[in-house]
Amino acid sequence: MSVQRVLTGITTSGTPHLGNYAGAIRPAVAASRQPGVESFYFLADYHALIKTTDPLRVQRSTLEIAATWIAAGLDTDRVWFYRQSDIPEIPELTWLLTCVAGKGLLNRAHAYKAAVDRNTAEGVDPDAGVNMGLYMYPVLMAADILMFKAHSVPVGRDQIQHIEMARDMAGSFNHLYGEHFVLPEAAIDASVATLPGLDGRKMSKSYDNTIPLFVPTAELKKLIFSIVTDSKAPGEPKDADGSALFQLYQAFSTAEETRAMRTAFDEGIGWGEAKQALFDKIEAAVAPMREHYLALIAEPARIEKHLHEGAAKARAIATPFLAELRHAVGLRNLASVPQAARAAKAKAALPQFKQYREADGRFHFKLVDADGRLLLQGAGFASPREAGAAVAALKQGAAFEMRDGVLWLEGAQVATLAEGVDEADLRAALGTFAD
Ligand code: TRP
Repeated sequence: MSVQRVLTGITTSGTPHLGNYAGAIRPAVAASRQPGVESFYFLADYHALIKTTDPLRVQRSTLEIAATWIAAGLDTDRVWFYRQSDIPEIPELTWLLTCVAGKGLLNRAHAYKAAVDRNTAEGVDPDAGVNMGLYMYPVLMAADILMFKAHSVPVGRDQIQHIEMARDMAGSFNHLYGEHFVLPEAAIDASVATLPGLDGRKMSKSYDNTIPLFVPTAELKKLIFSIVTDSKAPGEPKDADGSALFQLYQAFSTAEETRAMRTAFDEGIGWGEAKQALFDKIEAAVAPMREHYLALIAEPARIEKHLHEGAAKARAIATPFLAELRHAVGLRNLASVPQAARAAKAKAALPQFKQYREADGRFHFKLVDADGRLLLQGAGFASPREAGAAVAALKQGAAFEMRDGVLWLEGAQVATLAEGVDEADLRAALGTFAD
C-alpha cells in the first residue's frame, strides 16, 4: 500500500485539557508512529483569529499547544509539525479556492448557519456580528488540507462538513484546471474516547467544565474531587455506565483495571475512594509529561526552533506545489510560452483533416494544409462513419486514383482537388500522416 497522508489542525485559542489529550493528542501521537503513515499536525493560528481577538491569548495558546504535543511524545523529526501562519502558501491557496467555492456552499456551513439562525430568532440582521473570517473558515481549512494532499483527516464529528466542503472545492478546482488535488476524507475513530467534563457533559471549554491537562498536582486533585456525582453513600451499588468518573477512569486505564473498577462500582465503592483512584491514575499518566511540558514552556525559543524547522519542511512541499497551482490557473511568467498554444502550433504546422456536417444533412470532410489552405474537398456522405472511413483510408495511405481532379477510392468518387492544387501537393500532404 502507498503511504497514507494524515493531517489535522489544532486551533490555538485555548489551553489543552484532558479531553483534548485523550480524544485527539494521544491517538494522533500513537498514529504518527505507525509505519506507512506521513503525519501532518499543525497549529491553526489563523483559525484562532476567528475565535478570539485577544493577541496574548493566541500567543499563549500557541505556546501551550506546541509544548503539549511535544511533551506528549510527538517526534518532530518524524512528522510535519508546523504553525499555519509560517506557511504563506496557505493564505495564497485560500484565495485560489475562494474563486472556485460556491457562495451557496458556504451559506450552508453549520457555524455560519447557526449564527444566522440565532440572529433571525432575535429579530436582528441575519449577518449581525458575523465576520468574513467565520464565513470563510471552511475555505481556509480546505487550503490547510489540500495543500498537503492529505488522504485522511482525523477530526471530531462537528468538522465532518468542513472536510466535505474541502472535497467539493478540490473537485471543482480539478475539474477546471486538471487533477491537482487529492480528495480528502474525514477519519472518525469510534474507539477514541469523548471525555465528560466536571459536570458530566462533554468536556469542552465552551461549557467551562474542563480539567486542564497540565495544572499543578494539587489543582488537579481539587478538580477531580469536584466532579459531580450522585448522592449514593459508600456501600450502595453505583452505576458505572452513567458515571463521568468511571468514563474518565476508563480513558486512563487498561481493560483489566477498568473491569476491576466496574466491580468496585457494583460493590458500592465510596465516591471519595473512586475519586482518589481516578486522581492517582491521571497523575501517573500526566506527571512525566508535565515535567517535560514545564521545561519547554520555560524556554519558548526552543519551541520556536522546532516550529521553524517544521515550517521549512512543510514549505519544501507547499512552495513547489503552489507554483504548480499558480501556473495551472494562469498566474504565469509572461515570457513563458503557454503549453496549450505550443501544442496547438505544433499541430497547425501539419495538414489536417476536418469533418463536419453541411446544411444538406450530409457529412463532409476536407483536407487543409498547415496554413489552412484547402487541398481536398470531400464528397457528401450519408453518415459520419462513411466520411470517417474515407478519411482513415486516406490517412493510412490507401491507393487512390485521380481523374480530372476527382479522387477515386475503391471505385467510388470520394473527393475533389481544390482549385490550384496539383496531385503532387496532395500526395505530399497525405504523406505527412504516415509514420
Ligand atoms: N477547524 C478545526 C477545529 O476547530 C481545526 C482545523 C483547522 C483543522 N484547519 C484544519 C482540522 C485542517 C483538520 C484539518 O477543530
